[in-house]
Amino acid sequence: MRRCCSCLHALVVSRVKDIGIPWIFFLVLIILSLINPLRFPCIFYDYILEEDIPFQLESAYYDARKSPSSKMCQAPSTKIHKSIQDLNHSITEADLEEDMKRLFVSPGGIGKPQHCKSHFDVAIIVPYRNRSEQLTLFSYYIHRLLVTQEIEHHLFVVEQANEQPFNRAKLLNVGFQEASKLKDFHCFIFHDVDLIPLNEGNIYACTRRPRHMSVCIDSMRYTLPYCRIVGGAVAITKRQFLKINGFSNIYQGWGGEDDDFYRRLTEIGKFDVIRYDPVVSQYAMLYHPREEKGENRFQFTKPKDDGLKTLEYDVLDISLNPAYTKIKVQI
Ligand code: UDP
Ligand code: BGC
Ligand code: MN
Repeated sequence: MRRCCSCLHALVVSRVKDIGIPWIFFLVLIILSLINPLRFPCIFYDYILEEDIPFQLESAYYDARKSPSSKMCQAPSTKIHKSIQDLNHSITEADLEEDMKRLFVSPGGIGKPQHCKSHFDVAIIVPYRNRSEQLTLFSYYIHRLLVTQEIEHHLFVVEQANEQPFNRAKLLNVGFQEASKLKDFHCFIFHDVDLIPLNEGNIYACTRRPRHMSVCIDSMRYTLPYCRIVGGAVAITKRQFLKINGFSNIYQGWGGEDDDFYRRLTEIGKFDVIRYDPVVSQYAMLYHPREEKGENRFQFTKPKDDGLKTLEYDVLDISLNPAYTKIKVQI
């Protein structure tokens, strides 16, 4: 037995020597990264630390260095916030309606603090087609978060009515135009319907620079696939969005429109894109099969021509749901 063990030991040592320590380390890393979901932090990027978030926020009425006047709500705090541990997937339309009443959210998905004036006024724009269960769950969780954060907000769902391949970016442009007709929103958050923010400290307001919000997604093992990614959820001020002429309108089908948006942000806007601390920017993605890839997803557009300035669409219907305003469009 003893001899056998020492044989085994010798064998392992010789194998390790053959393969080499760096290779063994590499193999272990691959095996670990295949176990999903792994709660690796999103490393290697420059993030706004949790305690600095209040100093990065921007709005017409907010200055982190001054204490707010008596009418204003409390300034966003950096104390440790709660996180959602388990999503409740069985929320129904009726639960949603009930919850909106409890949260004092008005029909159309308009929420504002009851006893103070919010520092922020945000339009949330969601591109949408045929994902009703996700929409119910998203609406439920997003209003809860915004009410907790005392953020005045209006949730818009822009639904593509035609059967052509889905055009996420164009729908977001439509959302921007239609929301701006109703009110002079200072801040826009363009948000996928299947992303549920898990941390209360992830303040849903605009920052001095455009912000990529969905940093750590469970289905992506809480890591960013590449540095220039701005898919999922983005917060941007009206002024910044106008400067870059919005999104491109040409991306049909899955992919590419967000990469084009990154180019607009950096090349036209000359903006640095920022991100919040991974501690507060965790998201759950609701399951869906992969959509069909767009043929032109690697093509980049000339932003000066294509975008808000060339946007054409027909609004078919605007309806008020208890939790959102739905704008049905032909694009
Ligand atoms: N979307 C939708 N219906 C579709 C395709 C996309 O509502 O048939 C919207 C939805 O808001 C979704 C977003 O577009 O979250 C992005 O698409 P998807 O989730 O398929 O892409 P992913 O980001 O997961 O790669
Ligand atoms: C696509 C993006 C997408 C990203 C992450 C890229 O190849 O062009 O649209 O957000 O992959 O899935
Ligand atoms: Mn998705």
